[in-house]
Amino acid sequence: MLNVLRYPDARAAAESCGRGILDLLTAAIGTGKQATLAVSGGSSPKPMFELFAKSGFPWEQVQIFWVDERCVPPSDLQSNFRMANETWLTPAKVPSANIHRVPTELEPQEAARRYSEDVQNYLPFDVIHRGIGPDGHTASLFPGEPLIADHEGIAGAVWVEKMHQWRVTLLPGVLEAARNTVVLATGADKAEALAAVLRGPYDPMKWPAQIGARGTNVTWFTDLPKEIA
Ligand code: 6PG
Repeated sequence: MLNVLRYPDARAAAESCGRGILDLLTAAIGTGKQATLAVSGGSSPKPMFELFAKSGFPWEQVQIFWVDERCVPPSDLQSNFRMANETWLTPAKVPSANIHRVPTELEPQEAARRYSEDVQNYLPFDVIHRGIGPDGHTASLFPGEPLIADHEGIAGAVWVEKMHQWRVTLLPGVLEAARNTVVLATGADKAEALAAVLRGPYDPMKWPAQIGARGTNVTWFTDLPKEIA
């Protein structure tokens, strides 16, 4: 049975997703170790990051990673790191030693290799936060992407034709191995994709957001009513 939580609007869904993540991190820290969290980018997580910044959470006990990143400088408006840094990491004074961003100053393949080297020391992640695009992509695994078939690798560089952009993304094996996954799916433009991902036949090459997203350790947060998705 899929765990899908529905909210009246995108901010309510994002904030509840944020509180859900804090509860999962608290449980992980409770086992006596540092917790690990990987976050996605895009626009929908912004209210969640703002909630993190105001939460007073002990971020020094959490190692923070990215599910994917655009291969732009960390100061660029398109940088997922930048959005998280401005709305959460800096306001919450998260120690830099806890922040594992993708080294986008390097060539995409080299950035993916270096990032994999860093990430492999922390797997499996306690919590992975994912999004979904109107085309059913998740992380930077877009429909038809050959790396969707790679269950061994940790992170890879992908060329996203429709964005004319290189990106570095965590790969399916890492997404599927997460101890907990939360997926934030907000916006009417995602209704068709969400319906197919939640209820359609399993076809991750067509609907990448299905990867590791149907287990009992997965919670979906959405502002879409059951009738449409
Ligand atoms: C990215 C993301 C991507 C995102 C979806 C949804 O870098 O763009 O990590 O996978 O989660 O595109 O984006 P929105 O939240 O903006 O709808």
